[in-house]
Amino acid sequence: MIKLGIIGWRGLVGSVFLNRIKNSFINKHCEIFLFSTNKILIKNNVFNAFDTKILLNMNILVCCQGSDYTKNILKKIKTKKWKGYWIDSSSFLRMNNESLIVLDPLNKNLINKSLKNKKFFAGANCTVSLALLLFKNFLNLNLIEWISSSSYQAISGAGSKLISETIGEINSTKNLQTNLLSLEKSIKLSFNKKIPMVFNAKPWIDKKVNFGQTKEEWKSSSEASKILGEKINIDSNCVRITSLRCHSQYFLFKIKKNLHLNNIYEILNDKYVYLVKNDENHSKNILTPYNVCGKLKIFAGRIKKSLFDNKIFSLFSVGDQLLWGAAEPIKRFTEILLNFIL
Ligand code: HSE
Repeated sequence: MIKLGIIGWRGLVGSVFLNRIKNSFINKHCEIFLFSTNKILIKNNVFNAFDTKILLNMNILVCCQGSDYTKNILKKIKTKKWKGYWIDSSSFLRMNNESLIVLDPLNKNLINKSLKNKKFFAGANCTVSLALLLFKNFLNLNLIEWISSSSYQAISGAGSKLISETIGEINSTKNLQTNLLSLEKSIKLSFNKKIPMVFNAKPWIDKKVNFGQTKEEWKSSSEASKILGEKINIDSNCVRITSLRCHSQYFLFKIKKNLHLNNIYEILNDKYVYLVKNDENHSKNILTPYNVCGKLKIFAGRIKKSLFDNKIFSLFSVGDQLLWGAAEPIKRFTEILLNFIL
Protein backbone atom coordinates (compact mmCIF):
# COMPACT_ATOMS: atom_id res chain seq x y z
CA MET A 1 0.00 0.00 0.00
CA ILE A 2 1.22 3.50 -0.83
CA LYS A 3 1.32 5.77 2.23
CA LEU A 4 -0.47 9.01 1.42
CA GLY A 5 -0.36 11.83 3.97
CA ILE A 6 -2.83 14.68 3.78
CA ILE A 7 -1.98 17.95 5.52
CA GLY A 8 -4.63 20.65 5.88
CA TRP A 9 -7.55 18.24 5.37
CA ARG A 10 -9.89 20.33 7.53
CA GLY A 11 -9.46 23.47 5.46
CA LEU A 12 -11.55 24.47 2.47
CA VAL A 13 -9.39 22.87 -0.23
CA GLY A 14 -8.30 19.91 1.91
CA SER A 15 -11.82 18.93 2.91
CA VAL A 16 -12.99 19.08 -0.72
CA PHE A 17 -9.97 16.95 -1.71
CA LEU A 18 -10.75 14.40 1.00
CA ASN A 19 -14.33 14.24 -0.13
CA ARG A 20 -13.35 13.78 -3.79
CA ILE A 21 -11.05 10.84 -3.05
CA LYS A 22 -13.69 8.89 -1.09
CA ASN A 23 -14.31 5.55 -2.84
CA SER A 24 -11.78 6.48 -5.51
CA PHE A 25 -8.79 4.76 -7.06
CA ILE A 26 -6.68 6.74 -4.57
CA ASN A 27 -8.51 5.32 -1.55
CA LYS A 28 -8.22 1.83 -2.96
CA HIS A 29 -4.45 1.94 -3.37
CA CYS A 30 -3.37 4.14 -0.49
CA GLU A 31 -3.25 3.98 3.23
CA ILE A 32 -4.34 7.50 4.20
CA PHE A 33 -2.66 9.38 7.06
CA LEU A 34 -4.18 12.65 8.23
CA PHE A 35 -1.85 15.32 9.59
CA SER A 36 -2.74 18.39 11.57
CA THR A 37 -0.91 21.52 12.69
CA ASN A 38 -3.43 21.92 15.52
CA LYS A 39 -2.21 20.28 18.76
CA ILE A 40 -5.77 19.68 20.03
CA LEU A 41 -6.54 17.48 17.04
CA ILE A 42 -3.40 15.36 17.27
CA LYS A 43 -4.59 12.08 18.76
CA ASN A 44 -5.68 8.59 17.65
CA ASN A 45 -5.53 8.68 13.87
CA VAL A 46 -4.38 12.25 13.42
CA PHE A 47 -0.64 12.87 13.27
CA ASN A 48 1.45 15.91 14.07
CA ALA A 49 2.13 17.84 10.85
CA PHE A 50 5.39 19.16 12.35
CA ASP A 51 6.73 15.69 13.13
CA THR A 52 9.19 15.20 10.28
CA LYS A 53 9.89 11.61 11.35
CA ILE A 54 6.36 10.51 10.42
CA LEU A 55 6.26 12.74 7.37
CA LEU A 56 9.46 11.12 6.07
CA ASN A 57 7.66 7.81 6.18
CA MET A 58 5.08 8.89 3.62
CA ASN A 59 5.37 8.04 -0.08
CA ILE A 60 3.18 10.98 -1.08
CA LEU A 61 2.24 14.11 0.82
CA VAL A 62 -0.70 16.19 -0.35
CA CYS A 63 -0.44 19.58 1.31
CA CYS A 64 -3.37 21.96 1.47
CA GLN A 65 -2.06 23.84 4.50
CA GLY A 66 -0.72 26.99 2.84
CA SER A 67 2.54 28.52 1.64
CA ASP A 68 4.14 29.17 5.05
CA TYR A 69 3.81 25.56 6.13
CA THR A 70 5.17 24.23 2.81
CA LYS A 71 8.12 26.63 2.96
CA ASN A 72 9.00 25.58 6.48
CA ILE A 73 8.48 21.81 6.38
CA LEU A 74 9.52 20.96 2.86
CA LYS A 75 12.95 22.45 3.49
CA LYS A 76 13.33 20.23 6.56
CA ILE A 77 12.31 17.00 4.91
CA LYS A 78 14.33 17.78 1.79
CA THR A 79 17.51 18.06 3.84
CA LYS A 80 16.72 14.63 5.26
CA LYS A 81 16.68 13.26 1.67
CA TRP A 82 12.99 12.38 1.63
CA LYS A 83 12.24 10.20 -1.39
CA GLY A 84 8.51 10.90 -1.64
CA TYR A 85 6.36 13.14 -3.81
CA TRP A 86 5.01 16.45 -2.53
CA ILE A 87 1.75 17.71 -4.07
CA ASP A 88 0.88 21.24 -3.01
CA SER A 89 -2.15 23.48 -3.31
CA SER A 90 -0.43 26.71 -2.29
CA SER A 91 1.50 29.09 -4.52
CA PHE A 92 4.85 28.53 -2.78
CA LEU A 93 6.23 25.91 -5.17
CA ARG A 94 4.47 26.86 -8.36
CA MET A 95 7.08 28.98 -10.09
CA ASN A 96 10.03 27.04 -8.67
CA ASN A 97 12.18 25.26 -11.30
CA GLU A 98 12.10 22.07 -9.27
CA SER A 99 8.34 21.81 -9.54
CA LEU A 100 5.63 21.43 -12.16
CA ILE A 101 2.18 23.01 -12.08
CA VAL A 102 -0.31 20.24 -12.78
CA LEU A 103 -3.45 20.59 -14.88
CA ASP A 104 -3.59 17.31 -16.75
CA PRO A 105 -6.23 18.15 -19.40
CA LEU A 106 -3.76 20.82 -20.55
CA ASN A 107 -0.31 19.47 -19.71
CA LYS A 108 -0.48 15.68 -19.50
CA ASN A 109 2.66 15.41 -21.67
CA LEU A 110 4.67 17.69 -19.39
CA ILE A 111 3.36 15.74 -16.39
CA ASN A 112 4.45 12.43 -17.89
CA LYS A 113 7.92 13.81 -18.62
CA SER A 114 8.25 15.40 -15.17
CA LEU A 115 7.28 12.23 -13.33
CA LYS A 116 10.69 10.87 -14.33
CA ASN A 117 12.70 13.70 -12.77
CA LYS A 118 10.55 15.81 -10.44
CA LYS A 119 9.25 15.21 -6.94
CA PHE A 120 7.37 18.45 -6.32
CA PHE A 121 4.07 19.28 -7.94
CA ALA A 122 1.60 22.10 -7.41
CA GLY A 123 -1.94 22.92 -8.41
CA ALA A 124 -2.34 26.28 -10.16
CA ASN A 125 -4.09 29.38 -8.94
CA CYS A 126 -7.86 28.86 -9.17
CA THR A 127 -8.58 31.48 -11.85
CA VAL A 128 -5.73 30.07 -13.97
CA SER A 129 -6.99 26.47 -13.91
CA LEU A 130 -10.56 27.59 -14.59
CA ALA A 131 -9.49 29.80 -17.50
CA LEU A 132 -7.17 27.29 -19.15
CA LEU A 133 -9.70 24.50 -18.95
CA LEU A 134 -12.23 26.73 -20.68
CA PHE A 135 -9.80 27.75 -23.45
CA LYS A 136 -8.27 24.27 -23.81
CA ASN A 137 -9.38 23.67 -27.40
CA PHE A 138 -8.47 27.19 -28.53
CA LEU A 139 -5.00 26.65 -27.07
CA ASN A 140 -4.63 23.23 -28.71
CA LEU A 141 -5.54 24.81 -32.05
CA ASN A 142 -3.06 27.65 -31.41
CA LEU A 143 -5.81 30.21 -31.98
CA ILE A 144 -5.24 32.57 -29.06
CA GLU A 145 -3.61 35.94 -29.73
CA TRP A 146 -4.34 37.31 -26.25
CA ILE A 147 -6.82 37.00 -23.42
CA SER A 148 -7.97 39.74 -21.08
CA SER A 149 -9.83 38.61 -18.00
CA SER A 150 -11.77 40.37 -15.28
CA SER A 151 -12.56 38.13 -12.34
CA TYR A 152 -15.36 38.13 -9.78
CA GLN A 153 -13.83 35.97 -7.06
CA ALA A 154 -15.69 34.19 -4.28
CA ILE A 155 -15.10 34.95 -0.60
CA SER A 156 -14.06 31.31 -0.03
CA GLY A 157 -11.01 32.07 -2.20
CA ALA A 158 -9.70 34.17 0.68
CA GLY A 159 -10.33 31.39 3.19
CA SER A 160 -12.78 30.65 5.97
CA LYS A 161 -11.93 33.91 7.78
CA LEU A 162 -13.51 36.04 5.08
CA ILE A 163 -16.52 33.72 5.00
CA SER A 164 -17.07 34.22 8.76
CA GLU A 165 -16.49 37.95 8.43
CA THR A 166 -19.05 38.21 5.66
CA ILE A 167 -21.59 36.14 7.60
CA GLY A 168 -20.99 38.43 10.60
CA GLU A 169 -21.68 41.43 8.38
CA ILE A 170 -24.85 39.84 6.99
CA ASN A 171 -26.09 39.10 10.54
CA SER A 172 -25.44 42.60 11.72
CA THR A 173 -27.37 44.07 8.81
CA LYS A 174 -30.43 41.84 8.85
CA ASN A 175 -33.03 44.35 10.03
CA LEU A 176 -32.23 46.92 7.42
CA GLN A 177 -34.90 48.78 5.52
CA THR A 178 -35.22 48.86 1.78
CA ASN A 179 -35.43 52.63 1.55
CA LEU A 180 -32.06 53.46 -0.04
CA LEU A 181 -31.19 56.50 2.04
CA SER A 182 -32.01 54.85 5.38
CA LEU A 183 -30.23 51.72 4.20
CA GLU A 184 -27.05 53.63 3.39
CA LYS A 185 -27.18 55.40 6.72
CA SER A 186 -27.64 52.23 8.75
CA ILE A 187 -24.90 50.40 6.81
CA LYS A 188 -22.49 53.22 7.61
CA LEU A 189 -23.54 53.02 11.25
CA SER A 190 -23.33 49.20 11.41
CA PHE A 191 -19.84 49.01 9.96
CA ASN A 192 -18.52 52.24 11.37
CA LYS A 193 -15.08 52.76 9.74
CA LYS A 194 -14.69 49.18 8.48
CA ILE A 195 -15.19 48.72 4.74
CA PRO A 196 -17.56 45.74 4.52
CA MET A 197 -17.59 42.87 2.04
CA VAL A 198 -21.39 42.83 1.80
CA PHE A 199 -22.98 45.41 -0.51
CA ASN A 200 -19.48 45.80 -1.92
CA ALA A 201 -16.77 44.61 -4.34
CA LYS A 202 -13.03 44.89 -3.72
CA PRO A 203 -10.81 45.30 -6.78
CA TRP A 204 -7.59 44.14 -5.15
CA ILE A 205 -6.57 40.57 -4.26
CA ASP A 206 -3.24 39.66 -2.63
CA LYS A 207 -0.03 41.73 -2.61
CA LYS A 208 1.22 44.39 -4.97
CA VAL A 209 3.73 43.24 -7.58
CA ASN A 210 4.98 45.11 -10.66
CA PHE A 211 3.30 47.45 -13.15
CA GLY A 212 0.35 48.22 -10.85
CA GLN A 213 -0.62 44.55 -10.86
CA THR A 214 -1.60 42.47 -7.86
CA LYS A 215 0.01 39.07 -7.33
CA GLU A 216 -3.30 37.40 -8.20
CA GLU A 217 -3.25 39.20 -11.57
CA TRP A 218 0.42 38.44 -12.20
CA LYS A 219 -0.30 34.72 -11.74
CA SER A 220 -2.62 34.61 -14.77
CA SER A 221 0.02 34.90 -17.44
CA SER A 222 2.98 33.49 -15.51
CA GLU A 223 1.34 30.33 -14.15
CA ALA A 224 -0.59 29.70 -17.37
CA SER A 225 2.64 29.99 -19.41
CA LYS A 226 4.40 27.56 -17.08
CA ILE A 227 1.54 25.05 -17.35
CA LEU A 228 1.53 25.22 -21.13
CA GLY A 229 5.30 25.27 -21.45
CA GLU A 230 5.10 28.38 -23.68
CA LYS A 231 4.26 32.04 -23.24
CA ILE A 232 0.60 32.98 -23.30
CA ASN A 233 -0.57 36.60 -23.10
CA ILE A 234 -3.18 37.05 -20.40
CA ASP A 235 -3.94 40.39 -18.81
CA SER A 236 -6.21 40.28 -15.84
CA ASN A 237 -8.03 42.33 -13.29
CA CYS A 238 -9.05 40.48 -10.12
CA VAL A 239 -11.99 41.51 -7.97
CA ARG A 240 -13.42 40.01 -4.78
CA ILE A 241 -17.21 39.78 -4.59
CA THR A 242 -19.48 37.92 -2.14
CA SER A 243 -20.31 34.76 -4.09
CA LEU A 244 -19.50 31.73 -1.96
CA ARG A 245 -17.65 29.05 -3.92
CA CYS A 246 -17.49 30.01 -7.53
CA HIS A 247 -15.15 32.37 -9.27
CA SER A 248 -16.56 34.06 -12.36
CA GLN A 249 -14.45 35.53 -15.12
CA TYR A 250 -15.37 37.81 -18.00
CA PHE A 251 -13.02 37.17 -20.89
CA LEU A 252 -12.25 39.34 -23.85
CA PHE A 253 -10.06 37.39 -26.25
CA LYS A 254 -8.49 37.90 -29.62
CA ILE A 255 -8.05 34.97 -31.95
CA LYS A 256 -5.66 34.57 -34.86
CA LYS A 257 -8.31 33.84 -37.54
CA ASN A 258 -11.63 35.26 -38.67
CA LEU A 259 -14.22 32.90 -37.26
CA HIS A 260 -17.99 32.91 -37.04
CA LEU A 261 -19.68 32.94 -33.63
CA ASN A 262 -20.90 29.36 -34.27
CA ASN A 263 -17.27 28.24 -34.62
CA ILE A 264 -16.54 29.72 -31.20
CA TYR A 265 -19.30 27.58 -29.68
CA GLU A 266 -18.00 24.52 -31.52
CA ILE A 267 -14.45 25.06 -30.32
CA LEU A 268 -15.47 25.74 -26.72
CA ASN A 269 -17.62 22.60 -26.69
CA ASP A 270 -15.74 20.10 -24.55
CA LYS A 271 -16.33 17.58 -21.78
CA TYR A 272 -15.06 20.10 -19.21
CA VAL A 273 -17.30 22.94 -20.39
CA TYR A 274 -21.04 23.56 -20.08
CA LEU A 275 -22.23 25.98 -22.74
CA VAL A 276 -25.05 28.29 -21.71
CA LYS A 277 -27.43 29.85 -24.21
CA ASN A 278 -27.02 33.62 -24.50
CA ASP A 279 -30.48 34.64 -23.33
CA GLU A 280 -31.92 36.21 -20.22
CA ASN A 281 -33.39 33.07 -18.68
CA HIS A 282 -30.30 30.88 -19.07
CA SER A 283 -27.89 33.64 -18.11
CA LYS A 284 -29.76 34.61 -14.95
CA ASN A 285 -30.53 31.09 -13.81
CA ILE A 286 -27.80 28.79 -15.11
CA LEU A 287 -24.75 30.99 -15.57
CA THR A 288 -24.50 32.04 -11.93
CA PRO A 289 -22.05 31.27 -9.12
CA TYR A 290 -25.03 30.09 -7.06
CA ASN A 291 -26.01 27.48 -9.65
CA VAL A 292 -22.50 26.31 -10.46
CA CYS A 293 -21.57 25.59 -6.79
CA GLY A 294 -20.37 21.99 -6.45
CA LYS A 295 -20.37 21.34 -10.22
CA LEU A 296 -17.36 20.01 -12.05
CA LYS A 297 -17.85 21.78 -15.38
CA ILE A 298 -16.77 25.28 -16.28
CA PHE A 299 -19.92 27.13 -17.34
CA ALA A 300 -19.57 29.56 -20.25
CA GLY A 301 -22.19 31.89 -21.65
CA ARG A 302 -22.91 35.42 -22.90
CA ILE A 303 -20.68 34.51 -25.85
CA LYS A 304 -20.46 37.45 -28.26
CA LYS A 305 -18.43 38.75 -31.16
CA SER A 306 -17.04 42.27 -30.76
CA LEU A 307 -18.95 44.92 -32.65
CA PHE A 308 -15.65 46.55 -33.62
CA ASP A 309 -13.20 43.75 -34.38
CA ASN A 310 -13.97 40.46 -36.13
CA LYS A 311 -11.27 38.61 -34.26
CA ILE A 312 -12.30 39.70 -30.77
CA PHE A 313 -14.90 37.77 -28.77
CA SER A 314 -16.13 37.89 -25.21
CA LEU A 315 -17.77 35.52 -22.78
CA PHE A 316 -18.66 35.13 -19.12
CA SER A 317 -17.60 31.99 -17.29
CA VAL A 318 -18.26 30.49 -13.86
CA GLY A 319 -16.39 27.64 -12.17
CA ASP A 320 -16.20 26.14 -8.69
CA GLN A 321 -12.96 27.48 -7.23
CA LEU A 322 -12.67 24.57 -4.78
CA LEU A 323 -13.19 21.84 -7.40
CA TRP A 324 -11.47 22.56 -10.74
CA GLY A 325 -10.03 25.70 -9.15
CA ALA A 326 -8.16 23.74 -6.46
CA ALA A 327 -8.85 20.13 -5.41
CA GLU A 328 -9.61 18.49 -8.76
CA PRO A 329 -6.26 19.07 -10.55
CA ILE A 330 -4.49 17.75 -7.45
CA LYS A 331 -6.77 14.74 -7.09
CA ARG A 332 -6.32 13.84 -10.76
CA PHE A 333 -2.57 14.29 -10.54
CA THR A 334 -2.47 12.01 -7.48
CA GLU A 335 -4.19 9.34 -9.58
CA ILE A 336 -1.70 9.84 -12.43
CA LEU A 337 1.17 9.62 -9.96
CA LEU A 338 -0.21 6.41 -8.45
CA ASN A 339 -0.49 4.87 -11.90
CA PHE A 340 3.15 5.80 -12.46
CA ILE A 341 4.33 4.37 -9.13
CA LEU A 342 2.25 1.20 -8.96
N1 HSE B 1 -6.20 33.18 -4.70
C1 HSE B 1 -7.55 32.77 -4.83
C2 HSE B 1 -8.49 33.81 -4.28
C3 HSE B 1 -7.72 31.46 -4.13
O1 HSE B 1 -8.05 34.65 -3.50
O2 HSE B 1 -9.65 33.80 -4.63
C4 HSE B 1 -8.04 30.34 -5.04
O3 HSE B 1 -9.43 30.28 -5.23
